[in-house]
Amino acid sequence: MGDISPAQMKVARYRCQGGPENIEVGEQPMPVARSGELLVRVHASSVNPVDWKMAKGEFPFNIVRPKLPFVPGFDVAGEVVTAAEGFAVGARVYSRLPSLSAGASAEFVAVPASAVATIPEAMGYPEAAAIPLAGMTALQALRDQARMPVSGADGYRVLVVGASGGVGHFGVQIARAAGAHVTGLCSGRNAALVSSLGAHEVVDYTTGAAPNGGGDFDVILDCVGGAPVGRFLPWLTARGVYVSCVPRADTFAWQAFYTLTLRRRVRGVLLSPRADDLRWLGGLYERGGLRAHIDATFPLEGLGDAHRMSIAGRTRGKIVIAVA
Ligand SMILES: NC(=O)c1ccc[n+]([C@@H]2O[C@H](COP(=O)([O-])OP(=O)(O)OC[C@H]3O[C@@H](n4cnc5c(N)ncnc54)[C@H](OP(=O)(O)O)[C@@H]3O)[C@@H](O)[C@H]2O)c1
Repeated sequence: MGDISPAQMKVARYRCQGGPENIEVGEQPMPVARSGELLVRVHASSVNPVDWKMAKGEFPFNIVRPKLPFVPGFDVAGEVVTAAEGFAVGARVYSRLPSLSAGASAEFVAVPASAVATIPEAMGYPEAAAIPLAGMTALQALRDQARMPVSGADGYRVLVVGASGGVGHFGVQIARAAGAHVTGLCSGRNAALVSSLGAHEVVDYTTGAAPNGGGDFDVILDCVGGAPVGRFLPWLTARGVYVSCVPRADTFAWQAFYTLTLRRRVRGVLLSPRADDLRWLGGLYERGGLRAHIDATFPLEGLGDAHRMSIAGRTRGKIVIAVA
């Protein structure tokens, strides 16, 4: 009796740790959906900096080393192939894959049904792939860490640092839709984009100017990192909260200090993927309050170029991978 080889699928994967020069396109066995999981045919994925940071061994703090070969990518949008938990075959779903082993740069993924949401009817696969990781990070930073109301936030003044990037461009839109007065810190070349997303004011960081002279923000969402927390504290109101998407040792030190003084003033966000939050973002999209700006689209074979583009740090909105 001959061997029955499992069905194969195309993937883009890192054959060893390091930079995008180590990415190859190849085949590997299709995943098998276990109980409670959906098998999803991936139509699109998107790139997040964590993808190449993990491959380089930079995240999280190089404690979790990806198993090699490593198929990067957390964001998927696609079509259900094997039904489970109320999702029918053919249903259009999107997800931030909940497992640290990632795997989105592939033709198929198996994903717990609890981690997916239905894609809104008017949303295409590319936008659906662009939203999960970055959109949920922006939402959780503003709502859960800064404790800004996501509706009726009139009177709140929000500064988004890195307003033109993946997380930042969703942060601008979520804060604007909440009713806040939004200032975007970005370079001059991205001013028009950030204004078009709803920012009331745009400040060019390359001039080195403090936005509004500083001093009056209720929330600062830092999507860039690298600058000491102390730079931002003078820009906050007395009740203001600084939230970093790229927390460093000093972020945690300041957070611990303020926690001891019973104040919420400095926080780091670490995304916790939740289908409810995806549904919330989908609702905002349907109400016209959210869109994904797609800077570039690459095929699976172009994943290396997509990662190089992300590493360069100049992405406007999101980079999408068109899979099928
Ligand atoms: N903690 C978490 O759970 C979590 C989740 C998601 C992301 N993150 C992290 O958050 C960071 C941002 O992610 P992302 O997806 O938004 O990255 P991204 O899309 O690659 O960000 C690129 C954007 O950053 C802007 N930028 C670069 N330097 C800047 C500066 N000094 N001031 C203002 N804008 C600047 C660039 O605009 P210019 O070209 O105009 O400079 C570009 O538009 C990454 O480090 C990522 O790993 C963390």
